[in-house]
Amino acid sequence: MKFFLDTANISEIEEGVSWGCVDGVTTNPTLISKELVGKGDFKTLVRKILDVVDGPVSLEVTSTKADDMVREGKKLRTLGDNVVVKIPTTVEGLKALKILKSQKIKTNATLVFSVNQALMVAKAGASYASPFVGRLDDISEDGMSLIEDIREVYDNYDFETEILVASVRHPIHVKEAALIGADVATMPFEVFKKLISHPKTDEGIKRFMDDWGKIDKKKLMF
Ligand code: E4P
Repeated sequence: MKFFLDTANISEIEEGVSWGCVDGVTTNPTLISKELVGKGDFKTLVRKILDVVDGPVSLEVTSTKADDMVREGKKLRTLGDNVVVKIPTTVEGLKALKILKSQKIKTNATLVFSVNQALMVAKAGASYASPFVGRLDDISEDGMSLIEDIREVYDNYDFETEILVASVRHPIHVKEAALIGADVATMPFEVFKKLISHPKTDEGIKRFMDDWGKIDKKKLMF
């Protein structure tokens, strides 16, 4: 399974990439605005992200009409070969997905909340479909069961669209997404950090170091 970082924060991206486990990045208008309010411009920020990340970087359009989405998407795509254009899951979005696919531009259909929406964006040619599991959990629906259902439907019909699990809130989301066979999980850096930590690992290292400290170092071979 691929791991994407769901952030536009350059320090988080640099740190994550240095761990060798980051396959890409997703952003959205909220994440971009967090980094830009009162400091810097969009193009400079995006260029920095694209410099650090080899894999796909999703950048979201803010237009609502298909033609405008396509125009904006094509502009975003000029920023780098690995730019994936993020398109909202609406009727206008479907039209934009179709056009961008015909122009060989990769897309990420965002704000997917149902199997039928996932089917529609796959048929329209989305490269990725992003179901938001955390936001479904927020309204007492089971976000992960949506991932299970989409996996089954995409496999039934051999859709090539990748399932990009989004709105990930904690490590259990990541584990469950991997068990289901989702293609990608995108997560905040805070969740990414938690994937590697385990109290028994910390306890084990401490015990080894304490015991090692008891040895007379002069008696070691090196
Ligand atoms: C996905 O691409 C979105 O940026 C993201 O996962 C949204 O998650 P949120 O519900 O935590 O805002």
